[in-house]
Amino acid sequence: MLFRFLFKPRDPQLVIGSDVTLKYLGPSDARDFCAHIHELHYEDFRDRFNGLVSDPWLDQYIARSLNEAIVIGAYVGDHLVAVAELHTGGQISQGEGESAFSVASDWRRKGLGTILVKALLRAASENEISEIIVETGSQNHAMKALARKFGAKMQFSSDQSVGRINVADGLRLAARDRTHRKFPSVPLPAPEMTSAAVTMN
Ligand SMILES: CC(C)(COP(=O)(O)OP(=O)(O)OC[C@H]1O[C@@H](n2cnc3c(N)ncnc32)[C@H](O)[C@@H]1OP(=O)(O)O)[C@@H](O)C(=O)NCCC(=O)NCCS
Repeated sequence: MLFRFLFKPRDPQLVIGSDVTLKYLGPSDARDFCAHIHELHYEDFRDRFNGLVSDPWLDQYIARSLNEAIVIGAYVGDHLVAVAELHTGGQISQGEGESAFSVASDWRRKGLGTILVKALLRAASENEISEIIVETGSQNHAMKALARKFGAKMQFSSDQSVGRINVADGLRLAARDRTHRKFPSVPLPAPEMTSAAVTMN
């Protein structure tokens, strides 16, 4: 697995435009999700999973996420370029959701992470989740910056940095944020969430 994403060509020519669409991902999107994860450059893959993981583990993780979590994908055409996940249940307290984000390495720092947090905040509020937990490596400056933008106070814990985004506060900050304010919303309901919609700002 390692060699599949170690030496990816970098293409800085991409620009976010009106051709980026958001949709909820379900089990039928496993192949896209898997391809997106394998496209991450080595450091981004490591940051996403806090280390390296095996292909079987990854396949199980993706299947579980797509079956159980709220997963929002950003597409350019038919290419999945970014994913946000919100996991609930199990060890996670009621009213809270644990988040995870991955933006294709060539698409970083163009506002996609911000767009996905906004979409996830909306999805959280529609699903009675009042706090989004963000946990990442303490050296992950990108994720910490993204979480802070929406009000999280990141705290150092062991080698991890953990913070919480209050959904109501985050939505207020999202409404004020100017990043891609005119970005089109393309809400598509997940099968089990027929009334849910992803809208920006
Ligand atoms: C973390 C991640 C999702 C951010 O996505 P992104 O699309 O680059 O984020 P944005 O472009 O919306 O940037 C959000 C904010 O973070 C800041 N930021 C982004 N990368 C940064 C970096 N490397 N260092 C410092 N700040 C950074 C941006 O400047 C922006 O702040 P601003 O709006 O005030 O200018 C992305 O870098 C990623 O997928 N990383 C690999 C996987 C990972 O680490 N996931 C998190 C653990 S689950």
